[in-house]
Amino acid sequence: MGEVTKAVILMGGPQKGTRFRPLSLEVPKPLFPLAGSPMIEHHIESCKKVPTINEVLLIGSYQYDSQIRDFVYHMMKEYKLQVRYLQEYVPMGTAGGLYHFRDQIARVVGSDTSNFFVLNSDVCCDFPLNEMIALNQETTNGMGFMIMGTKAPPDEAVNYGCIVTEPGSTKVLHYVEKPETYVSNIINAGAYLFSTEVFKHMAQVFDEHHKNDLAFPKDSISLERNVLPGLVGTSKLHVYLLNQFWSQIKSGGSAIHANRFYLSLFCKYNRDRLATNFEDHATILGDVRIHPSAYVDKTATLGPNVYVGAGVRIEAGARVKESIILDRAELKEHCCVLYSIVGWDSVVGEWSRVEGHSADPDPNDPYAHVHSGSLFNKNGQLNPGITILGRGVNVSREVIVLSTIVLPHKSLVHSKKNQIIL
Ligand code: GTP
Repeated sequence: MGEVTKAVILMGGPQKGTRFRPLSLEVPKPLFPLAGSPMIEHHIESCKKVPTINEVLLIGSYQYDSQIRDFVYHMMKEYKLQVRYLQEYVPMGTAGGLYHFRDQIARVVGSDTSNFFVLNSDVCCDFPLNEMIALNQETTNGMGFMIMGTKAPPDEAVNYGCIVTEPGSTKVLHYVEKPETYVSNIINAGAYLFSTEVFKHMAQVFDEHHKNDLAFPKDSISLERNVLPGLVGTSKLHVYLLNQFWSQIKSGGSAIHANRFYLSLFCKYNRDRLATNFEDHATILGDVRIHPSAYVDKTATLGPNVYVGAGVRIEAGARVKESIILDRAELKEHCCVLYSIVGWDSVVGEWSRVEGHSADPDPNDPYAHVHSGSLFNKNGQLNPGITILGRGVNVSREVIVLSTIVLPHKSLVHSKKNQIIL
């Protein structure tokens, strides 16, 4: 039986996260704040709930700059875990980095049989890590491989990795990444529990790639395409089926949903992180988190599902709903911000309206997910989505900005609809 002592978070790198621009130009996507905490802090908080985990490794191809260094330092202090960033010299794919750093992942003092989690950074859910350990124990005496799955409507499932299980069992019989036609409505939800035996399978793939010159860059391996199908052959790959909210975070629109979900988790587990209504303070509707250094006028109304960052200033009569207001932004008197992300240091003028299109998944389908397809339709027009103001954008007074993406440091003096402002 292998004890689970580590978790690895796959961070990607600057080449990834293109659908998250312009926000990912300013901050590595895995550090973008959702409900006020960097995206992968939610993952680390879930790891902290597994008593045997003592180390979290972050693997990515971002430069180890002050943003990542400060984050690592803060996580170690806050969660009393060993946290380390391991930098890939080039993006090595979802398994290439795991294989490259296998010695660091497998190294546990006094044991070589430890198990470890692998979590995609761009997945949002209440990670059921203890439940995955329990199922791994039950199915393979803790010696197998486990993948977190969720269900998706058939027409959406083909956009993900699809999993076929033995009827009435959790055993995986077949795995295919983004199939051309419908295979199964159980999809790969981007979290895994592996024993270190997985490295033997990665070694086979790696050797084959090298021998036949199959991969570019030559050390890159895809977990989904190259490794998981091989694990199926061991009969030790099982699926833990998630029965709650799950979303990928690919676009700004999905960040609004993830923000909403993590605020709802705070409401369940950490109510003290959320704002409450006090006499002579701003009106708070539903789940709202406000950084202690932000100023919010008592006649403003916030919520539901709003995060207000550090040093933000929200003036009299402003209305904010389903939005993320990033550090030091200013919302002037009587402006209205709905379904939008307002970038760091941006200003929304008096009586202006910044509004996005919500694109909520079908409320009647419990397994419908936030779809982060292409930004454009087939005629090359921008699909209606949330409004994103990049860093340092200035929206003049009485301007209306609808479903528009505005690149950093632009000034808008006229109203805009369904555009990208370059
Ligand atoms: P897309 O639909 O193309 O975005 O694919 P996907 O949803 O299957 O995601 P993808 O395989 O690109 O990434 C899954 C996770 O692995 C994400 O958290 C990425 O940030 C991360 N990831 C992807 N490629 C790499 C890589 O080369 N190195 C590392 N360390 N992480 C990666």
